[in-house]
Amino acid sequence: MRKILVTGGAGFIGSNFVKMLLKRKSRKHIIVLDKLTYAGNMRNLDGFMDGKDVEFVKGDITSSKLLDNVIPGVDIIYNFAAETHVDRSILEGGSFVKTDVMGTYTLLQKALKYKVARFVQISTDEVYGSIKKGKFSEKDPIEPNSPYSASKSGADLLVRAFYKTHGLPAVITRSSNNYGPFQHPEKFIPLFITNALEGKPLPIYGDGRNVRDWIYVEDNCRAIDLVGRRGKVGQIYNIGANEEKENLYIAKKIIKFTGANKDLLTFISDRPGHDRRYALCARKIKSLGWKKEYTFSKGLVKTVKWYQENREWWQEIKSGSFKKYYSKMYGRRIAVSREGKVRK
Ligand code: NAD
Ligand code: TYD
Repeated sequence: MRKILVTGGAGFIGSNFVKMLLKRKSRKHIIVLDKLTYAGNMRNLDGFMDGKDVEFVKGDITSSKLLDNVIPGVDIIYNFAAETHVDRSILEGGSFVKTDVMGTYTLLQKALKYKVARFVQISTDEVYGSIKKGKFSEKDPIEPNSPYSASKSGADLLVRAFYKTHGLPAVITRSSNNYGPFQHPEKFIPLFITNALEGKPLPIYGDGRNVRDWIYVEDNCRAIDLVGRRGKVGQIYNIGANEEKENLYIAKKIIKFTGANKDLLTFISDRPGHDRRYALCARKIKSLGWKKEYTFSKGLVKTVKWYQENREWWQEIKSGSFKKYYSKMYGRRIAVSREGKVRK
């Protein structure tokens, strides 16, 4: 029986990935290791923690002692655990360096020590930085611009070094922006959907013309699984759906799909170091046999519906410590735009 370790499995992508694995018939045992930071939520795994095929361990990937207990016997590690929100990394970057760099390093050491057959590092297109024209390929240099992407880059370089130096059978996936059910409402799409449903302002940074290449979370999960099974060790795989959209376009779609008032759209001061455009060449992952199942409009309709039908899930998050973060993050910037300095 395959023993699978999923770190960060109570977060957005990790929990979707665990559910996808559990729907498969193959015999397996999954260990979800998660620190349950503000972003981790056991409710993301409701109905799936049967204590048989999957077990939960609350803990930190920087803890060497804990990993010595968890990793022996594990066949494959999927490392989703990370601090992930760019805006939070601007407010405070230390936890990003600790978890994303040191946590990955600690996991790599233990993977080597216990001869884990495969290490899958879940990385991001943000390590490449911003691109004006064309698309990033796996061969492009990394030029991260935020403390988040710099920390993820550090992790990627360590994974590469462990493969080159120690022969650790590791692979890296770099996906574009994910969206879908169970994404924390601090991120752009769920924040805008839930604010629209609550009749609150939709805070657009800068001119709203920044571009991201959006992928529905289930499409990314299928690609990660494929890389875990068939990816070549030492390789990097970009995962992108070729769905480049400007933020303003998405905001307007969300207003349309939720029936919200268009006056909610509020331009606020820009994010410092805001990457203008991300775009990925996904030829390599396609050559493994992957293709997307969701166009952006199909995925967005499904996502809006999920947030409409699962108000309790996000209302609980938004009424907790998120409130303090939200007022710190947006209070001043929205006030600035109201004075007419940034509003377009
Ligand atoms: P998320 O913030 O929703 O979840 C992260 C999870 O990691 C949480 O459950 C959290 O509790 C856990 N965690 C944080 N620090 C930990 C630690 N020290 N030890 C153990 N667990 C810890 O993030 P997500 O959006 O699901 O992203 C998952 C991974 O995918 C991350 O590595 C991220 O960099 C990468 N990624 C995300 C996107 C995206 O659009 N969301 C795109 C590309 C890559
Ligand atoms: P985000 O979801 O934070 O992902 P990332 O910055 O990692 O790509 O943001 C996606 C885009 O949306 C990005 O260009 C910043 C923008 N954005 C806003 O305009 N307003 C917001 O309130 C947020 C959270 C993001």
